[in-house]
Amino acid sequence: MLLEIPDVFTREEAAAMHEALCQADWLDGKVTAGAQSAKAKRNRQLAESHPLAHDLGQRILERLATNAVFMAAALPEKIYPPLFNSYEPGHDFGDHIDNAIRPINGTRERVRTDLSATLFLAEPDSYDGGELVMRTGFGTQAVKLAAGSLLLYPGTSIHRVEPVTRGRRIASFFWVQSLIRDDGQREMLLDLDMAIQRLTQTGAEQNALIQITGVYHNLLRRWADL
Ligand code: NI
Repeated sequence: MLLEIPDVFTREEAAAMHEALCQADWLDGKVTAGAQSAKAKRNRQLAESHPLAHDLGQRILERLATNAVFMAAALPEKIYPPLFNSYEPGHDFGDHIDNAIRPINGTRERVRTDLSATLFLAEPDSYDGGELVMRTGFGTQAVKLAAGSLLLYPGTSIHRVEPVTRGRRIASFFWVQSLIRDDGQREMLLDLDMAIQRLTQTGAEQNALIQITGVYHNLLRRWADL
């Protein structure tokens, strides 16, 4: 499932984050790439130990915890501390697949990358190129979102970032280990959750609502990995 979550941050908040990131010192992006993806990756990345990466990463995690759409869609068990990347003219990231398991630096924790997330922080009209392109069962899909909006996509997908030809594309990216490892099961739970919310808002018959809510929780209980 490819899901756009608009306005995780307001445009003003995203602009302030973008401004702070523009002032920072960046490293070669190959630091977090696997052997295959290092060959395809030409960008810059903020060091994981950079205080700004830590501060903004915390703000992102706190914001996501209060975002009902993200919580319902991702059903997060663990989230990798957000990373930040920057693409300027001459930068791109060719077709690749993200590593399945990510150790969290400085800890013994690992995150299984069920979902990948990109939080766009630059206004789309401030740069050319830089689309996130996903190969899906229905062909490719190119995505470029407003600053402050987030794209969630399956960790299993082959994807790339198109060359940037003008301006600077700054984004945050991270991975989610979901309570529901399987993309299809997670998508069905989201559909069911959204249908229950709509039925609740439109005053559906109470017993039927309790029954269908029970089905949601019983499926979650049956499928969840803790
Ligand atoms: Ni990737």
